[in-house]
Amino acid sequence: MPNTVSFNNQYPDITESDKLYERALKVQKPVTQTLAKGPGQFTKGVAPKYLVKGKGARVWDADGNEYIDYNAAIGPLSLGYAYPAVDEAITRQMQNGITFSLMHPLEVELSELIQQVIPNAEAVKIAKTGADVCSAAIRVARAFTGRDVVFCCGYHGWHDWYIGITSRNAGIPEAIQDMTYTFEYNNIELIKAALDETVAAVILEPFIFEAPSPGFLQELAEVCRENGTLLIFDEMWTGFRVAVGGAQEYFNVKADLAVFSKACANGMPIALLTGRADVMELFNSQVFSYTTFGGEALSLAACKATIHELIDKNVPKYLDEKGKELKDGYNRIASELGMEHYTKCVGFNCRTMVTFTPEAGDALELKTLMQQEMIKRGILWAGFHNLCYSHTGEEIAYTLEAYRDVLMLVKEAIENGTVKQQLKGEVLEAVFRKVSNYNIKAKTVAAV
Ligand SMILES: Cc1ncc(COP(=O)(O)O)c(C=O)c1O
Repeated sequence: MPNTVSFNNQYPDITESDKLYERALKVQKPVTQTLAKGPGQFTKGVAPKYLVKGKGARVWDADGNEYIDYNAAIGPLSLGYAYPAVDEAITRQMQNGITFSLMHPLEVELSELIQQVIPNAEAVKIAKTGADVCSAAIRVARAFTGRDVVFCCGYHGWHDWYIGITSRNAGIPEAIQDMTYTFEYNNIELIKAALDETVAAVILEPFIFEAPSPGFLQELAEVCRENGTLLIFDEMWTGFRVAVGGAQEYFNVKADLAVFSKACANGMPIALLTGRADVMELFNSQVFSYTTFGGEALSLAACKATIHELIDKNVPKYLDEKGKELKDGYNRIASELGMEHYTKCVGFNCRTMVTFTPEAGDALELKTLMQQEMIKRGILWAGFHNLCYSHTGEEIAYTLEAYRDVLMLVKEAIENGTVKQQLKGEVLEAVFRKVSNYNIKAKTVAAV
C-alpha cells in the first residue's frame, strides 16, 4: 500500500520513481529541467523523484504515495493544484485554440489588469519565463542608459549576463562575465561607493528570506535615480505573494522596472515585465525581444483567472496568516524541545525556510535527515514553506505534529552525534544560489 499523509511505518516505496530515473539517465542530459526539482534536492534512496498528480496542496508520486507539498512547484502554485477557477479558464480557452496567427485579445485584457494591480506598470510586456523577462529588463536598461554594467543580488535565471557570475559559468565569454557584479543585500554603503557612470541597472530580489533594513529599498531607489541607473525588482518570488502588487506595494517603493512570473498563473508558463513607459517604449523600436509562444492563450487565460482569484480571496493575507502559524509553530516546538540554539524557521510568512546553526552540525546532513523523516510522514519537504491558498489549517496543524515528532528524533541524533549514521539516502546538495564572494567592491570602487 502506498504511504498517505500520516505517521507511516515505512519510508515510501519509490520503485517506480527509481525506474523512471534509470531510464532518464540513459536519455536525458540533464535529467531535470529545474534544478530545484532534481535529485540533488531530494535525497536519493528515500525521496520520490517523479510526481504524477496534484490536488489542492497535495501531490501523488509515481508510486501512488501521497504528500502535502510545501514546494509550490518551485513557486508557481499560488492557489493550489487543479484549482477549479483557473482550470476552467484554461479549459474554456482550449476549446477555442491555444496559439494563434495574430495577437489575441487576452494579451490586452491581461495587460490592463496588470496595470491596475502592479504599482509601476505604465507599460507591460508579456513573455514566457523568469529568465526571459530578467534579460529583457537588463537589455532595455542598457539601451535606455547607454551603459553596460549590471549590479545584481539574488538569482535571475540561466542567461549569460547573470550565470556568468556564478560557479557554473562555462560557455559564457569573459567579456560578458566582466560586465555583471554582485552585491550584498542590505549593504547600501557598498552600493553607493560602487555606483558610477558605467552602471546601467541594479537588479535584485526585493527580499529573499532576510527583511530589508528600514529604508534600504527606498534609499536604493534614490541612489539609482541620482546616478542615472535603472532599478529593477526581480519579483519572481515576492510578486503576487507578499501582496498582489508585490514588493512595490508592500514596501511602498517604486522600481523603474519590475519582473514577475511563477505565482501569477498558478502553474502555467508566463512572465511579465512592467515599468516606466519611456523605458519600455524602446521595445517598440531599438530593442528586440519577441518569442513564438509569447501570446499563447491558455497561459494568458490562466494568469487572468489567477490574479482575479488572488484579489477576490485576498490570498496574500491568507498566505501570511497560514505561513505565520507554521513559522511560529515550528519555532515554538523547537524552543519547547530545547532546540532553539540548533534550528530556526526564518523569512516572510508567505515563504519561510528552516535553518540549522553551526552548533547543530552539518546543515546539509541535518536537512537530509529532516527531509527523510518528513517524507516518511507524508510531507514533501525541501526546507521551505512555500504556502499556497489550498494549504488548510488542518494540514498546517498536521505538519506541526510531524515537526514535533521529527525534531525530537533530530535532537537525539545531534546530541548523540549520529545524524549521518541515520541517513537512509544520499546527502543533499546545497541550493544553487549566489550568496557569497560578492565582487562589487574589488572591481568597481577602483574606477570611481
Ligand atoms: C528570483 C528569480 N528570478 C528569476 C528566475 C528565473 O525564472 P525561470 O526559471 O522561470 O526562468 C527565478 C527562478 O527560480 C527566480 O527565483
